[in-house]
Amino acid sequence: MSDLNKIVLKILEKGKGVLAADESTGTMTKRLESVKVKSNPESRLLFRETLFSSSKMKDCIGGVILYDETIRQISSKKNKIPELIENMGSYPGIKVDTGAKVLAGSPDEKITEGLDGLRERLKEYYSLGAKFTKWRGVYSISKNYPSKLCIESNAHALARYSALVQECNMVPIVEPEILMDGEHSVKDCYDKTSEVIKKCFDELILHKIDLTGIILKPNMILAGNKSHDKISSEETAKLTINCLKNSVPSEVPGIAFLSGGQSEIEATENLNLINKYNTSNFIMSYSYGRALQQGALKFWSKNTKDIEGTQKIFNHRAKMNTLAAQGKWSKELEIQ
Ligand code: 13P
Repeated sequence: MSDLNKIVLKILEKGKGVLAADESTGTMTKRLESVKVKSNPESRLLFRETLFSSSKMKDCIGGVILYDETIRQISSKKNKIPELIENMGSYPGIKVDTGAKVLAGSPDEKITEGLDGLRERLKEYYSLGAKFTKWRGVYSISKNYPSKLCIESNAHALARYSALVQECNMVPIVEPEILMDGEHSVKDCYDKTSEVIKKCFDELILHKIDLTGIILKPNMILAGNKSHDKISSEETAKLTINCLKNSVPSEVPGIAFLSGGQSEIEATENLNLINKYNTSNFIMSYSYGRALQQGALKFWSKNTKDIEGTQKIFNHRAKMNTLAAQGKWSKELEIQ
């Protein structure tokens, strides 16, 4: 077993998942302002360290994805943030892309940037304690999109990123996200997700990536949020499994879904059914941002001094998702 494979299996062991707390300063500011909290380095740190020091981190969260600002911050108890995370039995990770920018040649679409100088930045993040990294490619579905240009250029960037990350002895999370925004059907989501993921693996293989040392972070198969084509959670689960079985090479050890705008309960219920019906060898877990933080953030915004109350909400969500990652969740467990 390679060292990278060991890190993957540790992050995703026993139903553990990933807490995506790597919102850029711009995104985090929007999230904080939406609950009427002023965004500054102190408030961003306070909310995040409240989550990172919650008791369920130990049983439920195998990895935390950080943003550049956070990996350099010191907690109120004077711990470096990566140390605080390691002390909770979890691995610190880092978002290393520099964001999705307008794609020249197809200006309605996005290409993720951040390859220039990446080797040097990775060395620094490794020295700060990062064990894994994240890069997100983003695709929207509409009549003519995603274009071949968008699919190929993002796959190429994800592969070059992964090669540099593995060279630096860290695990790359490969995140090709098909956005839920739009009027597209479930079939469109299925077809485009398959095409995008297959192209990513063509490039990962071309770039000689050790597939046993990556985590794939895909979307689930859902209709667009403006579509009338709604399906049950059972159907979402079965289509998601089918899509991944047909597009992901079997060497890949783990898949950790993004929540992508699903409600907290929806994201948990879908993950639970995916695990109930999972006939593949992939570990199927979570790497949620909003679906782990929403309730806790809302509560905290009204009581920023109530650390315990905020942690109780986060602990519950983490526990529910870790049960779901083992197919052991049920609706009744949501009543606290
Ligand atoms: P969401 O779960 O809120 O989609 O965030 C996951 C993530 O890391 C997006 O890049």
